[in-house]
Amino acid sequence: MSDANRCQSMMMEFDGLLLDYSRQRATVETMDKLLNLAKASQLTEKISRMFNGEHINSTENRSVLHVALRAPKDAVIKADGMNVVPEVWNVLDKIKEFSDKIRSGSWVGATGKPLKDVIAIGIGGSFLGPLFVHTALQTDPEALESAKGRQLRFLANIDPVDVARNISGLNPETTLVVVVSKTFTTAETMLNARTLREWITAALGASAVAKHMVAVSTNLALVEKFGIDPNNAFAFWDWVGGRYSVCSAVGVLPLSLQYGFSMVEKFLKGASSIDQHFQSTPFEKNIPVLLGLLSVWNVSFLGYPARAILPYSQALEKFAPHIQQVSMESNGKGVSIDGLPLPFETGEIDFGEPGTNGQHSFYQLIHQGRVIPCDFIGIVKSQQPVYLKGEVVSNHDELMSNFFAQPDALAYGKTPEQLQKENVSENLIPHKTFSGNRPSLSLLLPELTAYNVGQLLAIYEHRVAVQGFVWGINSFDQWGVELGKVLATQVRKQLHSSRTQGTAPEGFNYSTTTLLKRYLETSSEPQM
Ligand code: F6P
Repeated sequence: MSDANRCQSMMMEFDGLLLDYSRQRATVETMDKLLNLAKASQLTEKISRMFNGEHINSTENRSVLHVALRAPKDAVIKADGMNVVPEVWNVLDKIKEFSDKIRSGSWVGATGKPLKDVIAIGIGGSFLGPLFVHTALQTDPEALESAKGRQLRFLANIDPVDVARNISGLNPETTLVVVVSKTFTTAETMLNARTLREWITAALGASAVAKHMVAVSTNLALVEKFGIDPNNAFAFWDWVGGRYSVCSAVGVLPLSLQYGFSMVEKFLKGASSIDQHFQSTPFEKNIPVLLGLLSVWNVSFLGYPARAILPYSQALEKFAPHIQQVSMESNGKGVSIDGLPLPFETGEIDFGEPGTNGQHSFYQLIHQGRVIPCDFIGIVKSQQPVYLKGEVVSNHDELMSNFFAQPDALAYGKTPEQLQKENVSENLIPHKTFSGNRPSLSLLLPELTAYNVGQLLAIYEHRVAVQGFVWGINSFDQWGVELGKVLATQVRKQLHSSRTQGTAPEGFNYSTTTLLKRYLETSSEPQM
């Protein structure tokens, strides 16, 4: 850290963003070697194959083209020989038209009232990205103004408690339900959709569905079968992975309903700016590439299995949960893209909380326990500045004091000698010693507008892709989520037959049988 040349070479600026990775445990030579590793793993070719629409998601035989979702109207991005950008813009134009109608009140509900509240039903990628962006924009002054009088809520969990929380205080007469599901088969989403359909029809009659329920899906046949008018369905495509779908109608529809399409367009532009940077910038200046390589360095070479995502911004409180899915569902794999067992571990355990909340929670472990590479994300200009007369600094400066202090505390630590000089008693010296040399990186955003939120999203999406490309895995499938779903089907069948015919649990191991029996005997769920 005392080598200014080294530090200077580890700072990168792009489109208002400043990345400082000088607190990584890497020398200039390390970076050269990581760039050689990128070359050896054919990173350039793999990125090109992604942008060219090749079927790089080989186990699902699909292209990976979320970059097309935010491409400018005149761009040409092909999947299976066809330019997909016009299709993308057809849907965006349809969203603009529909959201304008809802927001202006020209589209009304079954009883003639404007629809001012929206519940978006969806889970995983059909939930976390839109929730992150919504939470980030909620306090942006421009977004706040455009959302006046409107509410956007998200129903994800099949826990009926989540339904109760979502509908609490809402009136079906003034509520629009958006069912978001790539497959339109996800058990949680479909049961929640049926539950809210019941909520609407019980109050307003069956015909109200046409006015109060719309859908976002790749499976328009199932949307129609569910009873939603296909004219009120917003399509996306199999070349959009669920966790990469926030820039499709999955995010754009609910967010446009809440904030207006022009606000969401800014978000798409921010993401697109990073796409262009990622595609065309030499690796030594390419932010997602550098971040991806450093993550590979931390996981595979230094053996650190986790990564903490620490935004010093309450508006980014849902960023870590979103990146958990983007990163862990993408890179938590056990075999190479060719199906060979990997001789090393991939992916990292992502977690995080906004600073300074995390400081008063799990930072103890990060400072003196395990070594966890940290991403510190700071914002120059607060969305909601506060300055109290007589205080030493503004509230945002107070927050940012922590953003600047924590990386150095981790990097330098505190030695026993320093403690002795401070006359700390001998028995406390081991407890108060900080080993230091703990890696972090700092990303400073000029402000947190829709545009910056788009930038941040795309940086992390591409970083995860870079890691997967270097590790030689398929970051775009998710077979690991299937087994649990199959086993849940067996349990569902058992619960049904136990409730309807009183049959005892059968075909499960001792542990599950005991738990099921206890649940059935003591639960107050209605007998079907
Ligand atoms: O179970 C995991 C998963 O398939 C995710 O990959 C996906 O984002 C989520 O479920 C929701 O799927 P869908 O949008 O099809 O309802």
